[in-house]
Amino acid sequence: MDKNEIGLRIENLRNELNRHNHNYYVLNHPVISDFEFDQLLKELEKLERENPEFFDPNSPTQRVGSDLTKEFEQVKHQYAMLSLSNTYSEGELRDFDQRIRKQTDQAFEYVCELKYDGTSISLRYKNGRLERAITRGDGVQGDDVTANVRTIRSIPLVLHGNDYPDEFEIRGEILLPWAEFDRLNTEREQAEEPLFANPRNAASGTLKLQNPAEVAKRKLDAYFYYLLGPKLPCDGHFENLQKAQNWGFKISPDTEKCANIGEVITFIKKWDEKRHELPVATDGVVVKVNSLPLQSFLGTTAKSPRWAVAYKFKAEQAATTLLSVSYQVGRTGAVTPVANLEPVLLAGTTVKRASLHNADIIKNLDLHVGDTVFVEKGGEIIPKIVGADAASRHPMALPVDFIKVCPECGTALIRKEGEAAHYCPNEDGCPPQIKGKMEHFISRKAMNIDGLGEETIDLLFSEGLVRNVADLYDLKKEQISRLERMGDKSSERILRSLDESRSVPFERVLFALGIRYVGETVAKILANRLISIDAISRATLEELTAIDEIGERIAESVRSYFQNEYHLKLIERLKEKGIQFKLDETSLATRSEKLNGLSIIISGTFEKYSRDDLKKMIEQNGGKNVSSISKNTNYLLAGSNIGPSKLDKATKLNIPIISEDEFLAMIGD
Ligand code: IVH
Repeated sequence: MDKNEIGLRIENLRNELNRHNHNYYVLNHPVISDFEFDQLLKELEKLERENPEFFDPNSPTQRVGSDLTKEFEQVKHQYAMLSLSNTYSEGELRDFDQRIRKQTDQAFEYVCELKYDGTSISLRYKNGRLERAITRGDGVQGDDVTANVRTIRSIPLVLHGNDYPDEFEIRGEILLPWAEFDRLNTEREQAEEPLFANPRNAASGTLKLQNPAEVAKRKLDAYFYYLLGPKLPCDGHFENLQKAQNWGFKISPDTEKCANIGEVITFIKKWDEKRHELPVATDGVVVKVNSLPLQSFLGTTAKSPRWAVAYKFKAEQAATTLLSVSYQVGRTGAVTPVANLEPVLLAGTTVKRASLHNADIIKNLDLHVGDTVFVEKGGEIIPKIVGADAASRHPMALPVDFIKVCPECGTALIRKEGEAAHYCPNEDGCPPQIKGKMEHFISRKAMNIDGLGEETIDLLFSEGLVRNVADLYDLKKEQISRLERMGDKSSERILRSLDESRSVPFERVLFALGIRYVGETVAKILANRLISIDAISRATLEELTAIDEIGERIAESVRSYFQNEYHLKLIERLKEKGIQFKLDETSLATRSEKLNGLSIIISGTFEKYSRDDLKKMIEQNGGKNVSSISKNTNYLLAGSNIGPSKLDKATKLNIPIISEDEFLAMIGD
């Protein structure tokens, strides 16, 4: 094939793949098999790889996301992103209708749409191609998340047809469907990561991930509901949405035109029930005047349009009886009260338990055992108690009294000043805390022990084989393979991985110990500054707080960790097992104090080193790598493709901009 033919083939493949993406993700109607799709995609990938001059950011191959990470650039919205005023009753809706009818004698229609509960996004298209995707931000400016948005399969990168305006914006909601939300949370539970409370948080968290390839793995979806631009095709909002649907956007199939407010109310009543059957979360209905001329006549207030209003569904409530309160001890020793309820049906599921969070909440609700309580399912998956019926309370009912001792180990609980939670202070003797420490120790970012997980730790602990992290290194193959669902293969894998962990660098070992407030970053700083565990354990409060970024809270926690005889013995044992408790030779050799006290921000892409390497170099030379620019930043280390707003800010704040070579010269590389 000559270049011309290659170009044509690439274009054909892109068009075809775009069409199949639309069939699959928007219309839910694929016409080819996944296999056939992958074959076409592979062919396109190969052609693009071999002919880089045909690169196009809107090619379907870009959907998988690149591994390049970059901070988001803040961009001003061309049209401010307003919010909607909320209503909660039929009466308030009728008031809204009255207000509009006072302004006009003309007949007009409403459009009713579901109010999707995700995170809003504004997309700019130019000549039919996606140009930019910006989050709502503060309404005036938001984050440029284009790279992440490109990975969302139901968003068209290149529009269909030819009757779209040259330039326009379209707004909608990015959502994580329930099924995907459940899958993600199950995965996070297994990886011991904090769970997302609701799909909205999950969607916005995903959209803000720094790595588009990661975003691509979580199957976000998007519905669009608002077009903006100087030349829209139709005079009606509904008609414009239909056009947008033809251009390839996912428009809710449940949007309806209503002739009057009565029909609007019927729509709302229908969806208050039916919404539970939808694959995505909704929290209300948005009512809009259809006519665009009437919309602009009515105008907007500073915050929201006068031509639209949101009706919020009521969180569903149910009344039931509080049977008892039990207490769970987490891995960090935090004690969480949980209400045990007479099972009751709420929003499609049976509720037996509700979180009570902490002692203050119990006190504020004035809960008594046997109370009739009201439970509510808001946007959160775990229901909560919103009130108790004091009037129907038995005169002899006992108030719920927060426990004084740990239900797991009997140690008296403590509550630190200014904190809501109660803690069990027996960190090395309380079973869930011991197990928690071990789980942290073996986790990927710490010692990265393959094959060991929460369940195995549980088994090893209950069989009495391990009581602390040093015991792990005494395990024998037969001891592990005897356990439930373990065999020779898995025990060998665990032992091999434990063996390999002897070469895990000191900073990660320090992090793995699980000293309170010593996370990954602090561990790195301490390791780079003090070089060995012996030096860290001897460091005084003054010496610790003299280190940049180590405040009193961290310093005190480090001191108290090393004042504990048990911890010192544990470290001695780990040393005997061959674990690294000193910076290795290469880190020592490259370590310096040349950047002591300097805050450096990295932006753009570099030629000689990756951003992670550069970060490491900053830290190893005593500097601090910061992620946002301020007057306290000392240098902007700039590569190519640096965001213009960052450059702007640096210039305004008079922050010196240095190149990769200048930086390397500074540290004498
Ligand atoms: S219209 C100027 N329509 O609700 C009006 N918003 O409270 C722009 N939302 O930020 C919004 N579904 O994130 C509109 N069908 C819908 C919506 C919707 C969800 C969200 C959106 C907006 C917020 C306003």
